[in-house]
Amino acid sequence: MDEVLKLFPITTRRDPKGRMTIAGQSLRELVQQYGSPLYLYDGATLRSQLALLRKAFEAEYRGGFEITYAAKAYFSLEMAKRMASMGLGVDVVSLGELKIAGKAGFSPKRVHFHGNNKTVPELLFAMEWGISDIVVDNLSELVLLEFLASEKKKIINIWLRITPGVKVETHQYWQTGDIASKFGLPINDGQASEGIRFAQSSRWLKLRGLHTHVGSQVFDTQPYAEALRRLIGLAEQEEFILAELSPGGGLGVQYLLDDKMADAVDWVQTMSAALEHECGKRGWPLPKLLLEPGRWLVGQAGVAVYSVGAVKFSSDGMYIVAVDGGMADNPRPAMYQAHYVAALADRLPSGVLKRASLVGKYCESGDQLIPELKLPEVYRGELIAMPVAGAYQLSMSSNYNMASRPAVLWLEEGRAEVMQRRENPDERGWWVNDSAQD
Ligand SMILES: Cc1ncc(COP(=O)(O)O)c(C=O)c1O
Repeated sequence: MDEVLKLFPITTRRDPKGRMTIAGQSLRELVQQYGSPLYLYDGATLRSQLALLRKAFEAEYRGGFEITYAAKAYFSLEMAKRMASMGLGVDVVSLGELKIAGKAGFSPKRVHFHGNNKTVPELLFAMEWGISDIVVDNLSELVLLEFLASEKKKIINIWLRITPGVKVETHQYWQTGDIASKFGLPINDGQASEGIRFAQSSRWLKLRGLHTHVGSQVFDTQPYAEALRRLIGLAEQEEFILAELSPGGGLGVQYLLDDKMADAVDWVQTMSAALEHECGKRGWPLPKLLLEPGRWLVGQAGVAVYSVGAVKFSSDGMYIVAVDGGMADNPRPAMYQAHYVAALADRLPSGVLKRASLVGKYCESGDQLIPELKLPEVYRGELIAMPVAGAYQLSMSSNYNMASRPAVLWLEEGRAEVMQRRENPDERGWWVNDSAQD
Protein backbone atom coordinates (compact mmCIF):
# COMPACT_ATOMS: atom_id res chain seq x y z
CA MET A 1 0.00 0.00 0.00
CA ASP A 2 1.29 3.43 -0.98
CA GLU A 3 0.70 5.22 2.35
CA VAL A 4 1.20 8.65 0.87
CA LEU A 5 -1.96 8.32 -1.22
CA LYS A 6 -3.91 9.06 1.98
CA LEU A 7 -2.89 12.69 1.61
CA PHE A 8 -4.09 12.89 -1.99
CA PRO A 9 -7.67 13.50 -3.13
CA ILE A 10 -10.06 10.68 -2.26
CA THR A 11 -10.36 9.56 -5.89
CA THR A 12 -6.59 9.00 -6.28
CA ARG A 13 -5.54 5.51 -7.38
CA ARG A 14 -2.53 3.76 -8.86
CA ASP A 15 -2.92 1.22 -11.65
CA PRO A 16 -0.97 -2.07 -11.44
CA LYS A 17 2.07 -0.36 -13.00
CA GLY A 18 1.94 2.35 -10.34
CA ARG A 19 0.60 5.10 -12.62
CA MET A 20 -1.45 7.60 -10.71
CA THR A 21 -4.99 8.63 -11.61
CA ILE A 22 -7.29 11.18 -10.01
CA ALA A 23 -11.02 11.06 -10.70
CA GLY A 24 -10.21 8.26 -13.15
CA GLN A 25 -7.79 10.38 -15.17
CA SER A 26 -4.14 9.65 -15.74
CA LEU A 27 -1.82 12.40 -14.53
CA ARG A 28 0.56 11.60 -17.39
CA GLU A 29 -2.18 12.09 -19.98
CA LEU A 30 -3.38 15.29 -18.37
CA VAL A 31 0.15 16.71 -18.47
CA GLN A 32 0.50 15.63 -22.10
CA GLN A 33 -2.64 17.58 -22.91
CA TYR A 34 -2.36 20.62 -20.62
CA GLY A 35 1.37 20.95 -19.95
CA SER A 36 3.44 21.10 -16.80
CA PRO A 37 3.41 22.25 -14.06
CA LEU A 38 -0.26 21.50 -13.69
CA TYR A 39 -2.67 22.05 -10.80
CA LEU A 40 -5.62 19.72 -10.33
CA TYR A 41 -8.70 20.06 -8.11
CA ASP A 42 -10.74 16.96 -7.42
CA GLY A 43 -14.44 17.81 -7.19
CA ALA A 44 -15.32 14.72 -5.14
CA THR A 45 -12.83 15.60 -2.39
CA LEU A 46 -14.07 19.16 -2.10
CA ARG A 47 -17.70 18.06 -2.02
CA SER A 48 -16.97 15.44 0.61
CA GLN A 49 -15.24 17.98 2.90
CA LEU A 50 -18.19 20.31 2.53
CA ALA A 51 -20.71 17.54 3.18
CA LEU A 52 -18.89 16.52 6.36
CA LEU A 53 -19.05 20.06 7.74
CA ARG A 54 -22.68 20.58 6.74
CA LYS A 55 -23.71 17.28 8.30
CA ALA A 56 -21.95 18.12 11.55
CA PHE A 57 -23.72 21.50 11.78
CA GLU A 58 -27.11 20.07 10.92
CA ALA A 59 -26.68 17.50 13.68
CA GLU A 60 -25.16 19.74 16.33
CA TYR A 61 -26.23 23.35 16.05
CA ARG A 62 -29.78 24.60 16.42
CA GLY A 63 -29.17 28.28 15.74
CA GLY A 64 -28.83 28.04 11.95
CA PHE A 65 -25.57 28.22 10.02
CA GLU A 66 -24.02 29.25 6.74
CA ILE A 67 -20.79 28.14 5.18
CA THR A 68 -18.86 30.90 3.56
CA TYR A 69 -15.78 29.94 1.53
CA ALA A 70 -12.65 31.97 2.28
CA ALA A 71 -11.72 32.96 -1.27
CA LYS A 72 -8.15 33.74 -0.31
CA ALA A 73 -7.37 30.01 -0.18
CA TYR A 74 -7.83 29.77 -3.96
CA PHE A 75 -10.11 31.78 -6.22
CA SER A 76 -10.72 32.05 -9.93
CA LEU A 77 -13.90 32.72 -11.86
CA GLU A 78 -14.46 29.03 -12.56
CA MET A 79 -13.79 28.00 -8.97
CA ALA A 80 -16.10 30.76 -7.77
CA LYS A 81 -18.91 29.53 -10.05
CA ARG A 82 -18.54 26.03 -8.63
CA MET A 83 -18.56 27.30 -5.06
CA ALA A 84 -21.68 29.39 -5.73
CA SER A 85 -23.45 26.38 -7.27
CA MET A 86 -22.68 24.34 -4.14
CA GLY A 87 -24.72 26.83 -2.12
CA LEU A 88 -21.76 28.44 -0.39
CA GLY A 89 -21.37 32.07 0.55
CA VAL A 90 -18.03 33.77 0.05
CA ASP A 91 -15.59 35.75 2.19
CA VAL A 92 -13.59 38.22 0.09
CA VAL A 93 -10.82 40.68 0.90
CA SER A 94 -10.25 42.80 -2.20
CA LEU A 95 -11.89 44.49 -5.15
CA GLY A 96 -10.64 41.64 -7.34
CA GLU A 97 -12.31 39.00 -5.20
CA LEU A 98 -15.49 41.10 -4.94
CA LYS A 99 -15.70 41.40 -8.72
CA ILE A 100 -15.03 37.71 -9.33
CA ALA A 101 -17.70 36.80 -6.76
CA GLY A 102 -20.17 39.06 -8.61
CA LYS A 103 -19.31 37.63 -12.03
CA ALA A 104 -19.60 34.08 -10.69
CA GLY A 105 -23.18 34.71 -9.62
CA PHE A 106 -22.92 34.95 -5.82
CA SER A 107 -25.84 36.83 -4.37
CA PRO A 108 -24.56 39.96 -2.60
CA LYS A 109 -26.44 38.68 0.44
CA ARG A 110 -23.94 35.80 0.63
CA VAL A 111 -20.82 37.98 0.45
CA HIS A 112 -18.73 39.16 3.42
CA PHE A 113 -15.99 41.68 2.89
CA HIS A 114 -12.99 41.37 5.21
CA GLY A 115 -9.59 43.00 5.41
CA ASN A 116 -7.64 45.28 7.71
CA ASN A 117 -7.24 48.13 5.21
CA LYS A 118 -10.07 48.31 2.73
CA THR A 119 -9.65 51.15 0.27
CA VAL A 120 -12.29 53.74 -0.52
CA PRO A 121 -12.95 52.31 -4.04
CA GLU A 122 -13.31 48.85 -2.49
CA LEU A 123 -15.75 50.07 0.15
CA LEU A 124 -17.76 52.04 -2.41
CA PHE A 125 -18.01 49.00 -4.68
CA ALA A 126 -19.16 46.77 -1.79
CA MET A 127 -21.72 49.40 -0.68
CA GLU A 128 -23.02 49.86 -4.19
CA TRP A 129 -23.38 46.11 -4.71
CA GLY A 130 -25.25 45.89 -1.40
CA ILE A 131 -23.31 43.03 0.17
CA SER A 132 -24.05 41.72 3.59
CA ASP A 133 -21.90 42.41 5.44
CA ILE A 134 -18.85 44.65 5.44
CA VAL A 135 -16.72 43.29 8.27
CA VAL A 136 -15.23 46.44 9.79
CA ASP A 137 -11.74 45.84 11.13
CA ASN A 138 -10.86 48.99 13.06
CA LEU A 139 -12.12 52.31 14.38
CA SER A 140 -10.63 54.32 11.54
CA GLU A 141 -12.48 52.15 9.01
CA LEU A 142 -15.67 52.52 11.02
CA VAL A 143 -15.46 56.30 10.84
CA LEU A 144 -14.64 56.18 7.13
CA LEU A 145 -17.53 53.85 6.36
CA GLU A 146 -19.99 55.94 8.33
CA PHE A 147 -18.85 58.98 6.34
CA LEU A 148 -19.19 57.17 2.99
CA ALA A 149 -22.60 55.80 3.96
CA SER A 150 -23.84 59.24 5.01
CA GLU A 151 -22.56 60.75 1.75
CA LYS A 152 -24.41 58.08 -0.24
CA LYS A 153 -27.39 58.20 2.14
CA LYS A 154 -27.34 54.43 2.32
CA ILE A 155 -27.76 52.10 5.33
CA ILE A 156 -24.88 49.63 5.39
CA ASN A 157 -24.95 46.24 7.10
CA ILE A 158 -21.83 45.59 9.09
CA TRP A 159 -20.13 43.17 11.42
CA LEU A 160 -17.21 44.09 13.62
CA ARG A 161 -14.04 42.04 13.62
CA ILE A 162 -13.01 41.45 17.20
CA THR A 163 -9.59 40.45 18.52
CA PRO A 164 -10.42 38.27 21.50
CA GLY A 165 -6.90 37.87 22.87
CA VAL A 166 -6.90 34.13 22.26
CA LYS A 167 -3.67 32.55 21.10
CA VAL A 168 -3.67 29.37 19.05
CA GLU A 169 -0.91 26.89 18.42
CA THR A 170 0.14 27.44 14.82
CA HIS A 171 2.81 29.23 12.78
CA GLN A 172 3.35 32.75 14.09
CA TYR A 173 2.21 34.26 10.76
CA TRP A 174 -1.15 32.51 10.99
CA GLN A 175 -2.06 33.64 14.50
CA THR A 176 -4.69 36.33 14.26
CA GLY A 177 -6.63 36.31 17.53
CA ASP A 178 -3.90 37.45 19.88
CA ILE A 179 -3.83 41.02 21.20
CA ALA A 180 -0.77 41.91 19.10
CA SER A 181 -2.57 41.01 15.85
CA LYS A 182 -2.87 43.56 13.05
CA PHE A 183 -6.45 42.39 12.61
CA GLY A 184 -9.54 43.50 14.46
CA LEU A 185 -10.65 45.51 17.45
CA PRO A 186 -9.06 44.24 20.67
CA ILE A 187 -11.37 43.54 23.58
CA ASN A 188 -8.75 44.07 26.25
CA ASP A 189 -8.08 47.79 25.66
CA GLY A 190 -11.69 48.82 25.04
CA GLN A 191 -11.51 49.35 21.26
CA ALA A 192 -14.04 46.57 20.66
CA SER A 193 -16.53 48.19 23.06
CA GLU A 194 -15.95 51.58 21.48
CA GLY A 195 -16.60 50.09 18.05
CA ILE A 196 -19.89 48.52 19.14
CA ARG A 197 -21.07 51.75 20.74
CA PHE A 198 -20.11 53.80 17.71
CA ALA A 199 -21.85 51.40 15.33
CA GLN A 200 -24.98 51.18 17.45
CA SER A 201 -25.35 54.91 17.66
CA SER A 202 -24.76 55.42 13.94
CA ARG A 203 -27.65 56.42 11.75
CA TRP A 204 -26.05 54.80 8.70
CA LEU A 205 -24.43 51.64 9.99
CA LYS A 206 -26.48 48.63 10.99
CA LEU A 207 -24.48 46.35 13.28
CA ARG A 208 -25.68 42.78 12.76
CA GLY A 209 -22.97 40.60 14.17
CA LEU A 210 -19.50 40.02 15.52
CA HIS A 211 -16.67 38.17 13.89
CA THR A 212 -13.34 36.76 14.88
CA HIS A 213 -10.73 34.57 13.25
CA VAL A 214 -8.19 33.15 15.66
CA GLY A 215 -5.78 31.71 13.13
CA SER A 216 -5.17 29.24 10.37
CA GLN A 217 -4.04 25.59 10.35
CA VAL A 218 -5.52 25.17 13.84
CA PHE A 219 -6.19 21.74 15.35
CA ASP A 220 -7.20 22.44 18.94
CA THR A 221 -10.89 23.35 19.08
CA GLN A 222 -10.89 24.84 22.61
CA PRO A 223 -9.60 28.29 21.52
CA TYR A 224 -12.71 28.62 19.35
CA ALA A 225 -14.96 28.03 22.35
CA GLU A 226 -12.95 30.55 24.36
CA ALA A 227 -13.08 33.15 21.59
CA LEU A 228 -16.86 32.74 21.27
CA ARG A 229 -17.29 33.07 25.05
CA ARG A 230 -15.33 36.33 24.96
CA LEU A 231 -17.41 37.67 22.08
CA ILE A 232 -20.66 36.85 23.88
CA GLY A 233 -19.32 38.44 27.06
CA LEU A 234 -18.44 41.57 25.10
CA ALA A 235 -21.86 41.71 23.46
CA GLU A 236 -23.56 41.38 26.84
CA GLN A 237 -21.46 44.14 28.33
CA GLU A 238 -22.49 46.44 25.46
CA GLU A 239 -26.13 45.25 25.55
CA PHE A 240 -25.88 44.08 22.00
CA ILE A 241 -27.96 41.01 21.20
CA LEU A 242 -26.22 39.20 18.40
CA ALA A 243 -28.16 38.02 15.37
CA GLU A 244 -25.06 36.59 13.73
CA LEU A 245 -21.70 35.42 14.89
CA SER A 246 -18.67 34.10 13.05
CA PRO A 247 -15.66 32.25 14.44
CA GLY A 248 -13.95 32.63 11.04
CA GLY A 249 -12.17 29.63 9.57
CA GLY A 250 -8.83 28.07 10.31
CA LEU A 251 -9.51 24.38 10.65
CA GLY A 252 -6.26 22.57 9.89
CA VAL A 253 -5.45 19.93 7.32
CA GLN A 254 -2.86 17.16 7.20
CA TYR A 255 0.18 17.91 5.01
CA LEU A 256 2.40 15.06 6.26
CA LEU A 257 1.47 11.49 7.17
CA ASP A 258 2.30 12.04 10.83
CA ASP A 259 0.56 15.43 11.04
CA LYS A 260 -2.48 15.74 13.25
CA MET A 261 -5.83 15.64 11.50
CA ALA A 262 -8.34 18.32 12.53
CA ASP A 263 -11.67 16.92 13.61
CA ALA A 264 -14.46 18.94 12.02
CA VAL A 265 -17.13 17.24 14.12
CA ASP A 266 -15.29 18.08 17.33
CA TRP A 267 -14.91 21.67 16.06
CA VAL A 268 -18.64 21.98 15.53
CA GLN A 269 -19.54 20.22 18.80
CA THR A 270 -17.18 22.38 20.85
CA MET A 271 -18.51 25.63 19.41
CA SER A 272 -22.14 24.52 19.64
CA ALA A 273 -21.77 23.50 23.28
CA ALA A 274 -20.08 26.80 24.17
CA LEU A 275 -22.81 28.84 22.47
CA GLU A 276 -25.69 26.81 23.90
CA HIS A 277 -24.22 27.36 27.35
CA GLU A 278 -23.40 31.06 26.97
CA CYS A 279 -26.66 32.02 25.27
CA GLY A 280 -28.73 29.67 27.44
CA LYS A 281 -27.61 31.25 30.69
CA ARG A 282 -28.45 34.73 29.38
CA GLY A 283 -31.79 33.66 27.92
CA TRP A 284 -30.59 34.71 24.45
CA PRO A 285 -31.63 33.02 21.22
CA LEU A 286 -28.76 31.21 19.52
CA PRO A 287 -27.16 33.43 16.89
CA LYS A 288 -26.77 32.25 13.33
CA LEU A 289 -23.22 30.95 12.88
CA LEU A 290 -21.19 31.72 9.78
CA LEU A 291 -18.16 29.55 9.19
CA GLU A 292 -15.39 30.61 6.87
CA PRO A 293 -13.31 27.57 5.96
CA GLY A 294 -10.67 27.96 3.27
CA ARG A 295 -7.89 25.40 3.63
CA TRP A 296 -10.28 22.79 5.06
CA LEU A 297 -12.44 22.90 1.93
CA VAL A 298 -9.86 23.03 -0.83
CA GLY A 299 -6.52 21.94 0.63
CA GLN A 300 -6.69 18.21 0.11
CA ALA A 301 -8.66 18.56 -3.13
CA GLY A 302 -5.64 20.15 -4.83
CA VAL A 303 -2.57 18.47 -6.31
CA ALA A 304 0.44 20.10 -7.97
CA VAL A 305 2.09 18.08 -10.72
CA TYR A 306 5.64 18.93 -11.81
CA SER A 307 8.08 17.49 -14.36
CA VAL A 308 11.59 16.64 -13.35
CA GLY A 309 14.30 18.58 -15.19
CA ALA A 310 17.93 18.74 -14.10
CA VAL A 311 19.21 16.27 -11.49
CA LYS A 312 22.63 16.42 -9.85
CA PHE A 313 24.55 15.80 -6.66
CA SER A 314 25.72 18.63 -4.47
CA SER A 315 29.28 18.31 -3.18
CA ASP A 316 27.94 17.13 0.18
CA GLY A 317 26.20 14.19 -1.49
CA MET A 318 22.63 15.52 -1.61
CA TYR A 319 20.70 14.34 -4.67
CA ILE A 320 19.20 17.54 -6.07
CA VAL A 321 16.11 17.08 -8.18
CA ALA A 322 14.86 20.22 -9.90
CA VAL A 323 11.30 20.53 -11.17
CA ASP A 324 9.70 23.00 -13.57
CA GLY A 325 7.82 24.94 -10.87
CA GLY A 326 8.68 26.04 -7.36
CA MET A 327 8.28 29.15 -5.28
CA ALA A 328 6.45 31.08 -8.01
CA ASP A 329 3.47 28.68 -7.87
CA ASN A 330 3.99 27.57 -4.26
CA PRO A 331 5.68 30.15 -2.05
CA ARG A 332 4.67 28.37 1.19
CA PRO A 333 7.89 26.44 1.82
CA ALA A 334 9.99 29.58 1.29
CA MET A 335 7.64 31.83 3.29
CA TYR A 336 6.78 29.62 6.21
CA GLN A 337 9.01 26.56 5.94
CA ALA A 338 5.81 24.66 5.15
CA HIS A 339 6.31 20.90 4.87
CA TYR A 340 5.11 18.69 2.05
CA VAL A 341 5.47 15.20 0.69
CA ALA A 342 5.88 14.21 -2.94
CA ALA A 343 5.19 11.06 -4.92
CA LEU A 344 6.26 9.79 -8.31
CA ALA A 345 3.19 9.93 -10.53
CA ASP A 346 4.21 7.31 -13.08
CA ARG A 347 5.51 4.49 -10.87
CA LEU A 348 6.06 3.36 -7.32
CA PRO A 349 9.53 4.15 -6.00
CA SER A 350 11.96 1.25 -6.35
CA GLY A 351 15.68 0.65 -5.93
CA VAL A 352 17.92 2.50 -3.52
CA LEU A 353 16.38 5.61 -2.04
CA LYS A 354 18.71 8.59 -1.88
CA ARG A 355 18.81 11.54 0.48
CA ALA A 356 17.35 14.12 -1.86
CA SER A 357 16.19 17.68 -2.10
CA LEU A 358 13.27 18.67 -4.33
CA VAL A 359 14.00 22.15 -5.60
CA GLY A 360 12.27 24.63 -7.86
CA LYS A 361 13.64 26.46 -10.90
CA TYR A 362 13.65 30.01 -9.54
CA CYS A 363 16.60 32.19 -8.65
CA GLU A 364 16.59 31.87 -4.87
CA SER A 365 18.41 29.27 -2.79
CA GLY A 366 15.28 29.19 -0.65
CA ASP A 367 13.29 27.85 -3.61
CA GLN A 368 13.13 24.33 -2.20
CA LEU A 369 9.77 22.61 -2.33
CA ILE A 370 10.98 19.84 -0.01
CA PRO A 371 14.45 20.45 1.43
CA GLU A 372 14.94 16.81 2.39
CA LEU A 373 13.16 13.64 1.31
CA LYS A 374 13.97 10.14 0.05
CA LEU A 375 13.84 9.60 -3.69
CA PRO A 376 14.97 6.85 -6.03
CA GLU A 377 16.94 7.80 -9.11
CA VAL A 378 14.62 9.92 -11.25
CA TYR A 379 14.79 10.97 -14.87
CA ARG A 380 14.15 14.09 -16.89
CA GLY A 381 10.45 14.22 -17.75
CA GLU A 382 9.23 12.07 -14.86
CA LEU A 383 6.23 13.47 -13.06
CA ILE A 384 6.22 14.36 -9.39
CA ALA A 385 2.89 14.96 -7.68
CA MET A 386 2.57 17.00 -4.49
CA PRO A 387 -0.65 16.61 -2.51
CA VAL A 388 -2.52 19.14 -0.35
CA ALA A 389 -1.78 21.82 -2.92
CA GLY A 390 -5.25 23.34 -2.99
CA ALA A 391 -4.91 26.19 -0.50
CA TYR A 392 -2.65 29.24 -0.37
CA GLN A 393 -0.42 28.09 -3.22
CA LEU A 394 -1.81 29.48 -6.46
CA SER A 395 -3.60 32.25 -4.60
CA MET A 396 -0.21 33.42 -3.32
CA SER A 397 1.65 32.61 -6.52
CA SER A 398 3.74 35.18 -8.38
CA ASN A 399 5.36 35.86 -11.71
CA TYR A 400 8.81 35.86 -10.14
CA ASN A 401 11.43 35.47 -12.90
CA MET A 402 8.51 36.30 -15.24
CA ALA A 403 7.19 32.79 -14.63
CA SER A 404 3.86 31.87 -16.20
CA ARG A 405 1.28 30.64 -13.73
CA PRO A 406 0.28 27.03 -14.40
CA ALA A 407 -2.98 25.75 -15.83
CA VAL A 408 -5.59 24.62 -13.30
CA LEU A 409 -8.06 21.81 -13.97
CA TRP A 410 -11.22 20.69 -12.22
CA LEU A 411 -11.56 16.91 -12.31
CA GLU A 412 -14.91 15.28 -11.79
CA GLU A 413 -16.66 12.16 -13.03
CA GLY A 414 -14.10 11.42 -15.70
CA ARG A 415 -14.06 15.00 -17.01
CA ALA A 416 -11.27 17.56 -16.91
CA GLU A 417 -12.35 21.19 -17.16
CA VAL A 418 -9.92 24.06 -17.42
CA MET A 419 -10.49 26.49 -14.56
CA GLN A 420 -7.51 28.67 -15.36
CA ARG A 421 -5.48 28.48 -18.53
CA ARG A 422 -1.71 28.60 -18.36
CA GLU A 423 -0.30 32.11 -18.60
CA ASN A 424 1.56 32.73 -21.83
CA PRO A 425 4.50 35.12 -22.04
CA ASP A 426 3.77 35.65 -25.76
CA GLU A 427 0.43 37.25 -24.96
CA ARG A 428 0.31 40.91 -24.08
CA GLY A 429 0.16 41.04 -20.32
CA TRP A 430 0.64 43.37 -17.42
CA TRP A 431 4.31 43.78 -18.23
CA VAL A 432 3.72 45.82 -21.37
CA ASN A 433 3.04 49.48 -21.73
CA ASP A 434 -0.08 49.50 -23.89
CA SER A 435 0.84 52.74 -25.55
CA ALA A 436 4.28 51.45 -26.60
CA GLN A 437 5.10 49.12 -29.49
CA ASP A 438 5.97 45.50 -28.62
C1 LIG B 1 -11.23 36.30 8.20
C2 LIG B 1 -10.78 34.98 7.71
N1 LIG B 1 -11.69 34.01 7.57
C3 LIG B 1 -11.34 32.78 7.11
C4 LIG B 1 -10.03 32.50 6.77
C5 LIG B 1 -9.72 31.14 6.25
O1 LIG B 1 -8.79 30.45 6.98
P1 LIG B 1 -8.49 28.93 6.64
O2 LIG B 1 -8.12 28.86 5.22
O3 LIG B 1 -7.38 28.57 7.54
O4 LIG B 1 -9.74 28.17 6.93
C6 LIG B 1 -9.05 33.48 6.93
C7 LIG B 1 -7.65 33.19 6.60
O5 LIG B 1 -6.74 33.93 6.76
C8 LIG B 1 -9.44 34.76 7.41
O6 LIG B 1 -8.55 35.74 7.55
